[in-house]
Order: sequence, then C-alpha cells, then structure tokens
Amino acid sequence: MHEPYRLKHLPLVVCLACCLLPCVAEIFSSVSKMKTLPRLERRLLTKFEDFLQTVHREDGAADELRRKLQKLHQWNSKIVKNTSIIECPLHAFRLVKRLVRQWSAVFKLADDVIAPSVSRFKEFTNSTREWLRTQQIWPTHADLSGAATAIVRLHHLYNLDYAPLLQGHFLNVTSKPLTSLELTYVTKAALKLGFICDAKGLFSALETLSAGFEGERTVARVQRLRERLSDLMIGSMSECEHNNSISTPSVSFLASEPEQRRKEAVRTLYHQMCRKSMQAAIVHGSGTRCYLHSTQVPYLKFKAEVVNYDPYIVVFHDVISDDEIREMKDLSFGKLSPSTLAVAQVAHEQQLIRVSQNAWLFDTSPVVSRVSRRVELITRLSTRILHQDTHAEPYQVLNYGLGGVYGPHEDSVRVPRHNGNENTPLLRNSGDRTATWMYYLSDVQLGGATVFPLLGASIRPQKGTAAFWYNLKHSGEGDVRMVHAGCPVLYGDKWVANKWLREVGNVFTRPCLLHPHL
Ligand code: OGA
Ligand code: FE2
Repeated sequence: MHEPYRLKHLPLVVCLACCLLPCVAEIFSSVSKMKTLPRLERRLLTKFEDFLQTVHREDGAADELRRKLQKLHQWNSKIVKNTSIIECPLHAFRLVKRLVRQWSAVFKLADDVIAPSVSRFKEFTNSTREWLRTQQIWPTHADLSGAATAIVRLHHLYNLDYAPLLQGHFLNVTSKPLTSLELTYVTKAALKLGFICDAKGLFSALETLSAGFEGERTVARVQRLRERLSDLMIGSMSECEHNNSISTPSVSFLASEPEQRRKEAVRTLYHQMCRKSMQAAIVHGSGTRCYLHSTQVPYLKFKAEVVNYDPYIVVFHDVISDDEIREMKDLSFGKLSPSTLAVAQVAHEQQLIRVSQNAWLFDTSPVVSRVSRRVELITRLSTRILHQDTHAEPYQVLNYGLGGVYGPHEDSVRVPRHNGNENTPLLRNSGDRTATWMYYLSDVQLGGATVFPLLGASIRPQKGTAAFWYNLKHSGEGDVRMVHAGCPVLYGDKWVANKWLREVGNVFTRPCLLHPHL
C-alpha cells in the first residue's frame, strides 16, 4: 500500500513530475504545514497594509478594504500566538475557510473596485497573488473541502454525535456555533464520502438553521443541496439508526474467507479498535510485559514492552531523544509531499484511506545515521542503504493531516498480492519488507493509535518510542495477521518515521525456514 520506492530513480521521477505536472500544493494533509499558515497570513497582511499606506485616504473603497484587513488582522493576531490550536480540526477548518473565502473577497474588492481608480493596484494584486502561489501552502477550495471531510470522517469513524459540533463544540474545545455556510461544507463532505445518513442528519440541521433566513445566497445554497440530496432521500432517518457493530470473527475464520469479505471484516475490527483506543487512556500493555532489551553493547539496554507475543510486536521506550526528533523533522519538513497509495483509489476513497504527507530521509546527517545505528543495535538487522540490493530503505517520515489516517494495510510489498509492486527491481534484488521499525516523533493528544485489527493489539503514539514487528513469516511469505492501521487523529499533530528492513540483506539475522506456516 506504499508508493513503490525505487532508490535509483526517485529523484528523477520527482523532478520530472514537478516539471511536467502542476505540483499539487495541498495543505490539509499536513497539520505541521498548516501551523505555518498564520505566519504567512501575517506577511500577506503586512504587504497589503504597507501598500495601502501609499493610497489616498479619501478613496472610499480603500477604506472598506482597510476595514476588512483590520478584521483579518485581529483574527490573525489571536492565532499567530497560538498555532497549536490548529491541531483541533474545527479550528483548522475555520482557519482554512477564512483564508480561502475572506482573502478571495479581499482580492476581489481590490481588483474590481479599487484597481480601476488606482492603477498601481492591479500590479500589486497580481504580484502578490504570484508571491502567494510560490509559497506553495496557501489553501484552496480543495483544502476547505479536505478540512470539512476530516470533520465528517472523525465523527463517522469515532461515532461522535454531530449535535455538539453544530453548537461549535469539538471534544473539549468550545467555539461559536456553525454558520449555515460551514454546515453546508460539512454536509457536502458527508455526501462526497458516501455517508448518506450523516448527510441526511446534517442537512436537516442545515434546514433548521437557515429557516427564516432571507439571504438569497443562503436560500440558493440550501436549495441546491436539497436537489442533490433529494435522490438519496428515499427512506426515512430511522433506517439510519442501525447498529453497525459486528461480532468479532476469529483469525482462522477470516483467513478462509474470500478476500473482499476479509477486508470488510478487517475494516470493521479496525473501526472498533480505533473507538476503543480513543476511550482508553493507556492503550498498550499494563506494564507487566516489560523487560530490559540487551544490545550488542554490553551496558546499552532499552526499555521494551511486548504488545503481542505471537506474532511478536514490541514497543521500545525512550529510544530517540527530542533533539534527534527535531533534526529528523527539520530535515524532512521542506520535502513533505502528499502521501499516495500504491493501489489507485477514487479521490473521495483516498481521503478515508490515507491522509498524510511524507518525505524520504537518507542517513545524510550524523544524527540520522546515529538513529539508524540504534535500530541495528536493537534489532540486529542491517539498515545499510545501498544502490543495489539495499538492506533497508531510507526513513519514510510522515506527518499526518487533519483527521489524518492510514487505513488497514500491510507493509509487506507482496501482500496484498497483485498491487503492481510484485515485480519491481527493488523487490527482486532486496526482497520484501521483512520488518518495520517505526519511530514515534510526536505525542498525539487524542486518536491516532496504531492498531492491529486481527491481533487486538494497539499502540498509543508516544514521542520518543518506537514499535517493531516482522511483516513476513520465516517462510518468506507475507504474514496477513500483521495488517495494521493508523487511526484518524482526533486532535494533534502526529509524526512517525518508518524504517523498513529488507529481506535479502538480513537473511543471516532472520534466516528463511522451509516450513510454510512459520
Ligand atoms: C505506516 C503505518 C501507522 C501509524 O506508515 O506504514 O502503518 O500509526 N503507520 O502511523
Ligand atoms: Fe504500515
């Protein structure tokens, strides 16, 4: 389920893609990138304010623009000092909405009303637009829709009640009630995701909210949505009040099911586990399965906690320092781009399966090399990156987005089969991803657990820890029990760094055994 990674050709592919295609500068898929928006808005405000200083005071339209900018300045001042509130999807949605809608109104006013009388203005808005474009992070309508989708995805998957949201509450965050425009975006997002019951419920709230509204645009907006929904409105709301929990199927039963049914069952278990992990304060072990893990260096031991015995999943505590984490994030930040899926999905499905940005990080700095050597010391597996027959891949550093998620998948390339990756030179020369080492580079306030639906094991992201497991059986076959997922992030800015260890270079540490079930 990961993009096929080809060591030799990666820079060329990236370069070609950026030269030939318009590079998508989406931002809702990275919370850390979103946190830089208030600073950018501040710079934009300064540009406008400086320019307006040079425009005559008497111009009435310029005064209207000044008033708009003042309002934006007030909002900006609040958020620029406290960018961590962007970790709350509702605040993030409202920030994106303001940047997209209010600023396009500012540009429109400047272009339509002021530019005709102040000719320098056209030049100014054009160059400012171009400057914004080159920053690559200014949100678009696609981001607004992505932010609304995150809110729906979270409510749906975690079974949250929409009523508090309508009042402007998200978890323990309280703000103003949703406006009819905001509710329209959220309803449309539910519709796009195919969550018809959510859309019906949200739409009836929208009708109530906008009843008595005389505003032409609101009326037209609600009417358009009513028309879109009317085809789907067959059946009453009571049909939506079904119980979607299923009994837990056993692993052996699942393995004998056809692929599609197995996937469905895994998805249900994944939802259940994510919901459960949200309620539990401490997700993994009770502390009784802890031991000190020895390394090849006699005095160097690491705190280990076994999350699952068979197959083995272990979490190491205090295994990477805050300084090392900072360096890994700094080196990756500028290179983050939206994560893709190996198997093509329609856009709205993609938003249920993977919402994050990632960058590939090689051992190019002493800190990153040190962090990789630690993986070797603990696992005894080689992390050497070679042009051919590589023992390991560079880090895939991931920053999750709003409601960021990674649905159930296997890290091993041969499972699921026929995903288009089964005959790449990398797989032929280096073998499959025999094991995964995942550093947690951040805490997550709520949600975002790593869950193994078929094993009932879950790991709460904790800055400074790392999880380790094998993806293959000893026979070399992909171990389907290792299917796992990153639950949607309800609140927070989640970072992880994956180190995938390959089969061939590690064959002496993890030898092949002939028994097919091992
Ligand atoms: C992955 C993965 C889970 C998580 O990146 O392959 O499984 O919790 N991530 O981030
Ligand atoms: Fe994974």
